[in-house]
Amino acid sequence: MNTATQNLENDHVHILRLTDIMLAMVEQKCSETDHFELVVNLIRNFADGLHHAKEEELLFPLLGEKGFSPEHGPVAVMLMEHVQGRNFVKGVIDGIVELKNGKSEAIHLVYENLTGYANLLQNHISKENNILFRMADQMFSADEQQTLIDQFAVVESEADPEYNTKNSIAKIDFLASVYIQ
Ligand SMILES: [Fe+2]
Repeated sequence: MNTATQNLENDHVHILRLTDIMLAMVEQKCSETDHFELVVNLIRNFADGLHHAKEEELLFPLLGEKGFSPEHGPVAVMLMEHVQGRNFVKGVIDGIVELKNGKSEAIHLVYENLTGYANLLQNHISKENNILFRMADQMFSADEQQTLIDQFAVVESEADPEYNTKNSIAKIDFLASVYIQ
């Protein structure tokens, strides 16, 4: 069966690849501002804009109807981690701005926040894949899974075409070709 949780897990494959690229950039002491900016745009438009929108606007509310509060328990933890992720992205952006202003030591701010984001998301995705989505699969009917898939398609159709799933994957492929052998 084609499921909404499978759709989200497919996104996770690409987001995890992006986090591997981020760690490789730090490891290789990357200083390409353009590439840092591309990572930020991929997170903001694809990982957060598209993927987290599917979770926060559609999956989590349906889990809420099944008794999972957004204020405590597993959904609350996932929401909190999305916020932590946004704070790391803010740190990367602050670092990029300082780099562009000639403060070369800001590279450490960029590395620290790239690493923080990658570690957070790897752990977060593992919890979603192994725990939260499996609970959702137990609770959702085939109709509910299909409704979510249809709603995800609407979110996708409203995405900035430059960062829809297909084009985001192509951009991740490009970064992988540079940083991951
Ligand atoms: Fe997710």
